[in-house]
Amino acid sequence: MAKFSPKKFIKEKIEELKKKIKDKKALVATSGGVDSTVCAVLTKKAIGDNLVVLFINDGLMRENEAEEVKEVLKKYEIELEVWDVEDNFFDSLKGKIDPEEKRKAFRETFYKILGQAVRSYSADFLIQGTIAADIIETQKGIKTQHNVLSQIGLNPAFFGLTIIEPLKELFKPQVREVAKELGLPKKVYERKPFPGPGLATRILGEVTRDRVEKIRKATKIVEEELKEKEIFQAFPVLFSDKATGIVEGKRLLGDIISIRAVISEDALTAEVVKIPWDRLFKIRDRILKEVPGVVKVLYDITPKPPSTIEYV
Ligand code: XMP
Repeated sequence: MAKFSPKKFIKEKIEELKKKIKDKKALVATSGGVDSTVCAVLTKKAIGDNLVVLFINDGLMRENEAEEVKEVLKKYEIELEVWDVEDNFFDSLKGKIDPEEKRKAFRETFYKILGQAVRSYSADFLIQGTIAADIIETQKGIKTQHNVLSQIGLNPAFFGLTIIEPLKELFKPQVREVAKELGLPKKVYERKPFPGPGLATRILGEVTRDRVEKIRKATKIVEEELKEKEIFQAFPVLFSDKATGIVEGKRLLGDIISIRAVISEDALTAEVVKIPWDRLFKIRDRILKEVPGVVKVLYDITPKPPSTIEYV
């Protein structure tokens, strides 16, 4: 196979997007991840001001994400629209425990809101950053990735959408090359994957505001401590069960947090990172100190397969 040329890919995709969208309007929903950011920039180059870029604040993002995305897109003269719709997501996730039920609830809320957004901006197309791994995982029946609608029997037309997926033949390393070629900053092209359903994939059991707040705090710590480029993803997960601990000399039923750090090429398989004990201890100490109510911190040593990367 010929070596992938990001330059050629960009040129061809811009032409293709121009041909498909013509003088109509398109919408990209971005989370600030490399895939959706690349989609936003490619589409901006193709159709200019006929593009709307939307950040759906679902309450399941990491700290300061909207601000960071705004900053990155400014350079490309893209004004970010922000919709604060946390309540919709928390309401739909309420009482749900089963991973696929949570995914379904997230997905349906997400696409309902996207449908509203497409109508409210009179957009004719939705541009989505689906990549090859998302499609393969869903086809194999491993997980219904939130963005692979057609694979799960949902008709985009039901939500009033016509979808274009410019990156669907690419794997993550190629998307990163495209991002770099587009002049996006290192923090975007080296950004670690973050799943569409956000922090909800890192919470076992019910997703509530309180529990999201806990995992958000722990996520910040793990990301600060495990930044290396070689690490594909590093994150904490909040368990649904509680464990007995001792806090200030008293018995306390507290939370259990598991840390996961993996190396992977394409997310289809993964191996665990051998983190030195002193660094693990530092993460442990920070979590115990900075995240209230945690009494156990674990390090997950399971490869994919049989585990998946996320817990949900
Ligand atoms: P798993 O957990 O299936 O994850 O081993 C493989 C890769 O996909 C990411 N992931 C998702 N990405 N929507 C996404 O955009 C999703 O619903 C989703 N679920 C998992 C995960 O973080 C890992 O990089």
